[in-house]
Amino acid sequence: MKVRQPGFDFSSINPHWAPVREFAQSYNAFSTVPAHIEPFLVKVMMRVKEVLGPEHQALRNDIEIFNKQEVQHCKQHVAFNKMLYKSGYPGMQAIEKSYRDDYARFLEQKSLRFNVAYCEGFEAMGSAAGQVFFEELKEYLDGADELAVNLWKWHLAEEFEHREVCFQAYKALYGKGLFAYLYRVWGFMFAAKHIGTHTARVAAYLNAVDREALSEPERQASLAREKTLKGKIRKASRQRLFKVLSPSYDPGKMVPSPGMVELLARYSS
Ligand SMILES: [Fe+2]
Ligand SMILES: [Fe+2]
Repeated sequence: MKVRQPGFDFSSINPHWAPVREFAQSYNAFSTVPAHIEPFLVKVMMRVKEVLGPEHQALRNDIEIFNKQEVQHCKQHVAFNKMLYKSGYPGMQAIEKSYRDDYARFLEQKSLRFNVAYCEGFEAMGSAAGQVFFEELKEYLDGADELAVNLWKWHLAEEFEHREVCFQAYKALYGKGLFAYLYRVWGFMFAAKHIGTHTARVAAYLNAVDREALSEPERQASLAREKTLKGKIRKASRQRLFKVLSPSYDPGKMVPSPGMVELLARYSS
């Protein structure tokens, strides 16, 4: 695990960066997640680091790198999202506000156990999303703008790289008993619903803006493309996320997708 600073420049990127614009808009909606969740992850893991004893020094070191990686992810996605705000989607920030406020509320009102379980739920989604992006989306990524593709590849490959940190933190603090397992699974389902509801709202807004300029047949074709790609992503994600529900789930045992290691080597100077 290491910190990488890819230095992307999104100033000239088009929101429709993939040939299937509904696909680009799905990932543009996903891009609002790291802007808000990653500062939350960093704050939660800083609290975890404070309560972990000296016997967990290796994990404390991993948390340090984890946090630095998440800060870089957040920075790059915020820069990418600024381009979206300026490209004819001014309503995005209003939708993001309630999502951002949720994290402030979680930090203020929820227990550390809840927040760590939520973070682990998100991290489990992140490593699965990495596998889906590297293994299942060729038909959508062919002909897409390399810059947006590389933003996602770099981010998701690092999500895969640090996939174990929150899981180990949860285990170190709350053990491996039945209640710890059930609460971890509940935290995962809570996070998946919370994040999924938010990204669906943003994607619906982005597609609605795009569809204003379309004729009725074009609109129907756009809706059909969205339905197909959603079905593909959902199916590929579910197959992988099913493992998270198992009592023997261990993200450390997952194998990187072809291309992940090479991609990360490209940004490791
Ligand atoms: Fe991240
Ligand atoms: Fe992460």
